[in-house]
Amino acid sequence: MPILKIIVNPNKILRTKSENFDLSKINTKENSLFFQNMIETMLKKDGIGLAAPQVGINSRIIVVNNKNEKIIMINPQITKKSWGKEWGEEGCLSVPNVFGKVLRHKKIKCIYFDRNGKKQEIFAKGLLARVIQHEIDHLDGILFIDKAKNIKEVAS
Ligand code: CO
Repeated sequence: MPILKIIVNPNKILRTKSENFDLSKINTKENSLFFQNMIETMLKKDGIGLAAPQVGINSRIIVVNNKNEKIIMINPQITKKSWGKEWGEEGCLSVPNVFGKVLRHKKIKCIYFDRNGKKQEIFAKGLLARVIQHEIDHLDGILFIDKAKNIKEVAS
């Protein structure tokens, strides 16, 4: 499986609002391969999430690694957010060696389409909720450094 090239900040692609994925093309060989490559790339780079713009594609697709379950979320949409928020440390493959604390909703409900084009719903809390919020931000051209406090750079 080819590992996709990660786009690093600053880059216009990371700042562009991504288009909805055309669900009628979900079963094409090209897209099946792309979903698989996104997962492979996330795992190879030790990421817990990856959004399509990070590999140069402005399409609303994210992948998440949730305790060894790899979730492909197409056209994800947060439909409910808890009042409660919490700060947590984040980093990003597109902003290497930088970390900072970001305030995120503790719990979210999210709808999305899976790789078969089936509509799904997920209730997420803790780290999973954080990762989904971080990745959906990528689809809107937002990076965690836009929101973070205590930003620190570590030596590579
Ligand atoms: Co990121």
